[in-house]
Amino acid sequence: MTDHVTDDSSPLAVVILAAGLGTRMKSDVPKVLHEVCGRPMLSYVIDAALTLAPEQLVVVTGPDQDAVGEILPSGCERAVQAERRGTGDAVRAGLELLVGFDGDVLVLMGDAPLVDGAFVSALVTAHRAAASRATVAAATLDEPGHYGRVVRGPDGSVRRIVEARDASPEELMLTEVNTGSYVFDAALLRALLPRLRPDNTQGELYLTDVVRLAIDDGVAVAAPVVDDAEAMLAVNSRVELAAVNAVMRRRLLERLMLAGVTVEDPGTTYVDWGVEVGRDTVVLAGTHLLGRTTVGAACEIGPGAYLSNAFIGDRARVVRSHLLDCAIGSGCSVGPFAYIRPDTVLSEGARAGAFVEIKNSRVGEGSKVPHLSYVGDAVVGRDTNIGAGNITANYDGVDKHPTTIGDGVRTGSDTTFVAPVTVGDGAYTAAGSVITQDVPAGALGVARARQQNVPGYAERRAARRLRGRLPADERDGRR
Ligand code: UD1
Ligand code: CA
Repeated sequence: MTDHVTDDSSPLAVVILAAGLGTRMKSDVPKVLHEVCGRPMLSYVIDAALTLAPEQLVVVTGPDQDAVGEILPSGCERAVQAERRGTGDAVRAGLELLVGFDGDVLVLMGDAPLVDGAFVSALVTAHRAAASRATVAAATLDEPGHYGRVVRGPDGSVRRIVEARDASPEELMLTEVNTGSYVFDAALLRALLPRLRPDNTQGELYLTDVVRLAIDDGVAVAAPVVDDAEAMLAVNSRVELAAVNAVMRRRLLERLMLAGVTVEDPGTTYVDWGVEVGRDTVVLAGTHLLGRTTVGAACEIGPGAYLSNAFIGDRARVVRSHLLDCAIGSGCSVGPFAYIRPDTVLSEGARAGAFVEIKNSRVGEGSKVPHLSYVGDAVVGRDTNIGAGNITANYDGVDKHPTTIGDGVRTGSDTTFVAPVTVGDGAYTAAGSVITQDVPAGALGVARARQQNVPGYAERRAARRLRGRLPADERDGRR
């Protein structure tokens, strides 16, 4: 990470603050690990920082937050803030890993996942263009809420940042806020951090007070107002988590639409970060595309499709179905109301129809499981038709067993395959059969009781009833 994307010669390091307890989340999970569009919020901030190719990237975590350490990519160092004494103390902990570093330090908040490459690059550029030693990104919000307020003097220059909790009623009226993203000259930061005092309502060492200390020392602080105020939105409660998710989701959907995907109703369509959808695919209302889902070109997905870690080929159709960890080939048709469970592969042109559940199975090219069936731990060949209501009885209460069905097989309705069992190529099974033995290729497997008809039954029954030997309410079918 030594290449610079800016042509400025000053080296850049990044410190991301992520050690906070996130008390307002009321959670046992560290706040920065809460997910935005299926991904820990901290990962987005790290990605934004990495676009700048910094010399060093440090994430400040708590001593009890190994789980945060585990999601850090290589090249990203973990600093530990021993005690949570505030954002100023967190930066101090981060600087401990920047021994001998002399350059610009970009400070980002780990709970503000909407910052992206454009945002951080504009901030660093503004800092360098102003030849500033301290720059804080400001934003104007209609509802400034709990964000720190940027207090400016009569000449428009920044005087200080005041936290909402410590602000006077007049200061609270200010709509210009601190985004929580800063660039500092490393030497200035090292000089000022030890002078922070916990003289505020929270008794914390506020990073924001560095601004006042710098100005007291005659160092001007730049506070450019960012264009994209939405990018600063931070997550402090689950209400804000939902709001930030909504923004990220909208951004991801817009990216898909601009890449040629039709999204019928963005308001009810949920996509996770990293989901890919091909050109001319139509995503209908009420659809979830989650995890590492990839959808090919010219597909129709939805309405009401739920796909998690699903791979879908081109020209496939998935209607009102639930798909997990599976691969659906090109031209396949799934649903309505299909449940495709992990490790299922539908080969090209295959079909899984209404009220069909398939688990850990491979269905060959062009084969169909059209109605009301359960296929588990099975391998089905190509161009085979599974009749309505077929069941692979794959579980004997202790172990799971495989069912193998060949190519070009036609199974009768309501066939049960008691696994392990094999049906050869081109074979048939008779409707209602319980197949417990292998069916050789080309054979018909019949495994059901032979039908017996009782002639004249209805007449004899009526006669018995007349003689009073049958209670009038006795059911049909008893002899
Ligand atoms: C902070 C700013 C506020 C700004 C807002 C932008 C301060 C004092 N206030 O407020 O002006 O408008 O961010 O989102 O800086 N953290 C640590 N160690 C700590 C405390 C916090 O690492 O001891 C981390 C948190 O994990 C979090 C970030 O610092 O990622 C910000 O902390 P938080 O408590 O959320 O600050 P805010 O009150 O939101
Ligand atoms: Ca915050």
